[in-house]
Amino acid sequence: MNILLIGSGGRECAFAWKLSQSEKCEKLFIAPGNAGTANYGKNININPNDFEAVKALALKEQIDLLVVGPEEPLVLGIHDFFAADEALAHIPVIGPKKEGAILEGSKDFSKQFMERHHIPTAKSRSFSNENLQEGLAYLAQHSLPIVLKADGLAAGKGVLIIDNHREAQDELRLMLDGKFGKAGSTVVVEEFLTGIELSVFVLTDGKNYVVLPEAKDYKRIGQGDTGLNTGGMGSVSPVPFANAEFLNKIEERIIKPTVNGLASEGIDYTGFIFFGLINVGDEPYVIEYNARMGDPETESVILRIENDLVELFMACANKELGDYQINISQKNAATVMIVAGGYPGDYEKGKVITGLDNIRDSIAFHAGTIAEGGTIKTNGGRVLAISSLKDSQFEALQCATADAARIYFDGKYFREDIGFDLI
Ligand code: AMP
Ligand code: GLY
Repeated sequence: MNILLIGSGGRECAFAWKLSQSEKCEKLFIAPGNAGTANYGKNININPNDFEAVKALALKEQIDLLVVGPEEPLVLGIHDFFAADEALAHIPVIGPKKEGAILEGSKDFSKQFMERHHIPTAKSRSFSNENLQEGLAYLAQHSLPIVLKADGLAAGKGVLIIDNHREAQDELRLMLDGKFGKAGSTVVVEEFLTGIELSVFVLTDGKNYVVLPEAKDYKRIGQGDTGLNTGGMGSVSPVPFANAEFLNKIEERIIKPTVNGLASEGIDYTGFIFFGLINVGDEPYVIEYNARMGDPETESVILRIENDLVELFMACANKELGDYQINISQKNAATVMIVAGGYPGDYEKGKVITGLDNIRDSIAFHAGTIAEGGTIKTNGGRVLAISSLKDSQFEALQCATADAARIYFDGKYFREDIGFDLI
C-alpha cells in the first residue's frame, strides 16, 4: 500500500517509524514531514491545509491510505474533501470528518455533547457578545479560580485560569473582543478541577473502538512542573495511578458514552479520540477532547503497541475494529523532549544538531528539525523527542534522559525530571 501521512512533528515521526515497519507499507509519503520522517519515507513539501495540493499528491503517488496527524486539516475538513471528490473517495482516511473533529474544534460543542451524554466534566456555561452582561454577572459569583476557554482552536493558548473575579471579567471582555481572533467569539466559563491529569486514547471506526495505552504528559517548561505551559515536554506510559479499576471507570463512564453518543447523533467518526482527563479523588473527568493523537504522548504510546499499525488502521477504515485484538506491551515507555532555548517564548531556528549518533538505547523521534546541506538543524520550538522502552519506568526514564544529554545544539534544553514524580 502507498500511504500518505500528514504532519511534521514528533507525533508524525513516531507514526512514520511504526508505519514503515509494516510489510503492507510499500511507499510512505509524509507531507511536509521533518528531517526524521525522511528516514522512514519520502517528505513532500506541501501545506497540508492546501487540499488541492494534497489531492494532486494523492493521485500522483496512487495513495491507498491517508493518515492525518494534526487537528487543523481535520477541523478544516480534509476528510470531507476526500469523501466528496470522485477521484479520492475510495481512499480511506484516518481522522474524523468536520462533524467529528468539532469535538476538538469547538469547546462549546464538546461541553454540550458531554452534558447530553452524561459524561463527567467540569460544570460550565458559554457566553458570547449577545449575553455578555449575563456572563459578567455569572463570573462575579463564580468560585475561584475560574477557567476561561476560547471556544475554537487557539494553538494551545486559549485556556486561562484566573484567580480574581475582576480579572476574569476583563479577560472575558478581551476574549470576546477578539484576543484570540474568531476562536474566542464564544467563551466557555468552567469550574476549576483539582487533580492529576492523564491522557487516554482510542481508535474508533464509529461503532467499535480499541483502547490504546494511556499516557501522562508534562506541560510546563520548568523542572518540578513550574513555569509556562508548552506543547508538552515529555511523557510516560503506562501511568502508575491509572490502575485497572480507574481505567474501567474511564471506559464505562467516558469512552463508551462518547463513542455511542457520536453514533447516536449520526456522526460517523473514523480516527483517534484523545481524552484529556483529570483524576479528582479517584473519579475521572474530561478536561477536553482532541480529534487526534497527543504529542509527545504518541512517542511513548507507539512504543507499546505491538500490532502492525497499517493493519490497525485498515481495520479501522473497514469498520472491523470489533474483531480486532490490540496487543499492548507490558513494558514502560518514556519520552523526553529536547527544546530550543527560549521556548515556549521566542526562540531561534537553524542551530546545527550534533550527537544524534551518540544515542545508545532510545529512539530520537524528530519534531522541529530540517535537513540542510548535509547537516540537521533545528526548525521549531520542540526539536527532538527521545523515547525509550524498558522493563521498568525508572529504567526507561533514565535511558531517555541520559540519551537526551548526548545530543547538542546551541540553546538546547530539556527537563531532567520527566516522570520521576510518579515513581
Ligand atoms: P485544554 O486546552 O482544555 O486542555 O486546557 C489546557 C490545560 O488547562 C489543561 O491541560 C489543564 O491543565 C488546564 N485546565 C483546563 N480546564 C481545566 C479545569 N476545568 N480545571 C482545572 N484545570 C483545567
Ligand atoms: N500533549 C498534549 C496535546 O497533544 O495536546
